[in-house]
Amino acid sequence: MRKKIVAGNWKMNTVFSEAETLVTEIADSLDDVELNGAEVILCPPFIYLEMITDVAFESNFKVGAQNIYPADSGAFTGEISPLMLKELNVEYCIVGHSERRQYFQESNEFLKKKVDALLIHGLQPIFCCGEVLPEREANQHFDVVKRQLEESLFHLAPAAFLNIIIAYEPVWAIGTGVTATKEQAQEMHAYIRQLISEKYGADAASETSILYGGSCNGKNAAELFSQPDVDGGLIGGASLKSAEFIKITTSF
Ligand code: 13P
Repeated sequence: MRKKIVAGNWKMNTVFSEAETLVTEIADSLDDVELNGAEVILCPPFIYLEMITDVAFESNFKVGAQNIYPADSGAFTGEISPLMLKELNVEYCIVGHSERRQYFQESNEFLKKKVDALLIHGLQPIFCCGEVLPEREANQHFDVVKRQLEESLFHLAPAAFLNIIIAYEPVWAIGTGVTATKEQAQEMHAYIRQLISEKYGADAASETSILYGGSCNGKNAAELFSQPDVDGGLIGGASLKSAEFIKITTSF
């Protein structure tokens, strides 16, 4: 049975004291709520990972990073390796977020290397895909997502693919307040699951968690998560407010 997941992507937000307050509030609240089997993942900036994995050790959430460089070590000034994350008990890592594709020119080919580097060390990629608005308007959104999956994930052996979590994040919905409708989300999630089924078989497809991201909040999460192929969310802005984030985690 695939996992239900709510992951918070803090992006480049919070100073240390704010990060401490936010994680403490979330950890305390998670003790008191019914998650209905859902897993909660927090993805803070790198420099808070150690502090947050310490809190996670005694709490009911897991920890993910927002990025890696695909090498174990070496002369890559400013970069962080999956090996470093592994030692901190980080279990997940976001790969292919549209902000990295857009601002750091990360290609499908480069993201494939990141996926491989994470899997070597047993970290689970949360692989983001999604179209920009002109692509949706030109009815190219299915082709764009297909290509992102084919070029960065579908080289994986079947056993390796089982470690992948997918997040469909239509770029036009990220940080805009314009959420995909539940029908738009369901349609794309079902399409992604069909592609996985064609490549890896029906069992792999039904075991893969596919999250929705893009202006998901405490008000719309329940409707989105009620869709048969929406297994949770990757939450940006609303993950920075503890009460709202907790509401999302209990929206299944
Ligand atoms: P928002 O929830 O702020 O739209 O961001 C979504 C996102 O990019 C999560 O990775």
